[in-house]
Amino acid sequence: MRTLTPHVELRLMTADDLPMLHEWLNRPHIVAWWQNERPTFEEVRVKYLPRVMAADRATPYIGLLDGCPFAYAQSYVALGCGGGWWEDVTDPGLRGIDQSIADAALLGQGLGTRLVKALVTEVFTDPAVTAVHTDPAPDNARAIRCYEKAGFRRVREIVTPDGPAIYMRCERPSP
Ligand SMILES: CC(C)(COP(=O)(O)OP(=O)(O)OC[C@H]1O[C@@H](n2cnc3c(N)ncnc32)[C@H](O)[C@@H]1OP(=O)(O)O)[C@@H](O)C(=O)NCCC(=O)NCCS
Repeated sequence: MRTLTPHVELRLMTADDLPMLHEWLNRPHIVAWWQNERPTFEEVRVKYLPRVMAADRATPYIGLLDGCPFAYAQSYVALGCGGGWWEDVTDPGLRGIDQSIADAALLGQGLGTRLVKALVTEVFTDPAVTAVHTDPAPDNARAIRCYEKAGFRRVREIVTPDGPAIYMRCERPSP
């Protein structure tokens, strides 16, 4: 039977995905909310190569919409991030997440909420994980609303190495 609800899932990103990721990270709707600059391929390769990210205890994913790549997502261990990130974190079980939808035409249709839910579910498959946090920019109302719909609560405004952010958390669900 044909389903009318598109299927959202995640797979691990590989080095073969880097050219696609580079192209996505140069799209204006992602540049505006991701790093605020257009990265070169070499910059993307150095930062997002899965084995480089693994050394930093981060995991990159590709979001799939009915089997086709449509989003980038990542999770990371918050404790010991370095670079001025999450210096007050003491919980080794805390993970962070980030994600962006590649195609601007797909924004605002509920796909981000489903992607975040899938990522949180994936992250919580590790029994050591206690909670997941994220840090959208205070003026990224669409992202903040998306995280709320996916089960995150706003905690407070913070200042990160990337600037002001809304600190949001999702605790591990009770068994
Ligand atoms: C952030 C992102 C992943 C969210 O995914 P999405 O599919 O667009 O989000 P959803 O459709 O699931 O939910 C968005 C919600 O925000 C609302 N929204 C959209 N624009 C809004 C705005 N300007 N102000 C307030 N709410 C807004 C939508 O109406 C929807 O809420 P509703 O279902 O209650 O009506 C996606 O928009 C994206 O990739 N944006 C570009 C890059 C980016 O911002 N990345 C995140 C960095 S933290």
